[in-house]
Amino acid sequence: MDKSVKRLYSKATASMKHSFIRQILKVTKTIPGIISFAGGLPSPDSFPKEQLASLFSRVILNEGDDSLQYGTSDGDKTLKKAIKLFEEVPFLGNDEIMITVGSTNGIYYFTRTLIDPGDIIICEVPAFPGSVAAMEACGAKLVGVAMDRQGMIPTLLRSTLKTLLSKKQPVKFIYVIPEFQNPTGKTMGLARRRAIIRIAEEFNIPILEDQPYRELRYHGKRIITMWEIARTEFNDPKLVTIAKSFSKILGPGLRLGFSSGPPDILIPMIKWAQKVTVSPDCATQRVAARFIQEGHLTQHIQRIIDLYRPRRDAMLKALETYMPDYVSWTQPKGGMFVWVTINKPINTDTLLERALKRKVAFIPGSKFYPEGREQCNEFRLNFSYASEEQIFDGIQRISRLLA
Ligand SMILES: Cc1ncc(COP(=O)(O)O)c(C=O)c1O
Repeated sequence: MDKSVKRLYSKATASMKHSFIRQILKVTKTIPGIISFAGGLPSPDSFPKEQLASLFSRVILNEGDDSLQYGTSDGDKTLKKAIKLFEEVPFLGNDEIMITVGSTNGIYYFTRTLIDPGDIIICEVPAFPGSVAAMEACGAKLVGVAMDRQGMIPTLLRSTLKTLLSKKQPVKFIYVIPEFQNPTGKTMGLARRRAIIRIAEEFNIPILEDQPYRELRYHGKRIITMWEIARTEFNDPKLVTIAKSFSKILGPGLRLGFSSGPPDILIPMIKWAQKVTVSPDCATQRVAARFIQEGHLTQHIQRIIDLYRPRRDAMLKALETYMPDYVSWTQPKGGMFVWVTINKPINTDTLLERALKRKVAFIPGSKFYPEGREQCNEFRLNFSYASEEQIFDGIQRISRLLA
């Protein structure tokens, strides 16, 4: 771009980086026959194309006066009603839920509501870079807390908060992905969720709970969300705001999600939405509402689970079959990702360069750590996009590179 224009960039624009994951996705698209475990892409086989095509046509023809008109910034009331029934929270006030343009949009508004440049957000490490980028765009400083098998470690969260607050550092919120975390696939058990909320209550710091994968559970029982625990056990809805998404259960191209939290947080988030998107896409919102109301979503989620469960099983089996004994990995009960650790000083950024030559891709672990704190012996594998056959083939290719 013309230098004279760059000269005018705001500080935030000038410091903004391209997303590595987007770049690698672009690269993988140019390599014919590549097996990609890189993106967090749902399988196109999971998109309910015919049902959506017929609903879009019906919504435009029968409800077009409404759905082609400007909508409200907090979202379509019909969709809110459908979500409340689907989520089994019919008692929720309309001012406690807002529809967003994907969950990233909700995460951004939440951050925009609470963060001034230099303020601190506590997050898990490794962390999901999409949210980190949205938060950094608001000027936030991310402070990572290490995870064990169950996610963020409570004792470390407490000591981190104690240290920061004793130095009068402006800690604004705690960001967690408690279920099938991106990138590790780890899930917080009930006791861990309660422990994290207890600390949030003790230090009076709210939690943002990011839950895009909750419905994609392949094994074990559903666990109550932190948002619900805060309402029902702690009797304090202010403690947790939840961001959810239709990206993984309907299609990311629809750009639809929702946030639910206390009105004191949601009202300013909606004020931000008025300035940024005006409203989410009204026709898409109504289509999603009808999809849920006509009972398609429950059936559709089951179809996705039936599609992804064998892929997860294939990936775990392929890792077991082909990986050398100095490699270990997580056992996700849902979601889309497995996190692999090479217990040897092997740099996965370099490994990726070699893997691309063998037509297989993953995301190196370093991309999920704050700058300067990168761990280089790990990588993330996605199992929702490739077929079972490709999964076996791709994992064998990576294991050969390691050998
Ligand atoms: C943990 C997490 N949060 C948020 C998102 C963003 O989802 P959306 O498409 O709803 O913006 C993703 C997408 O991959 C994700 O993995």
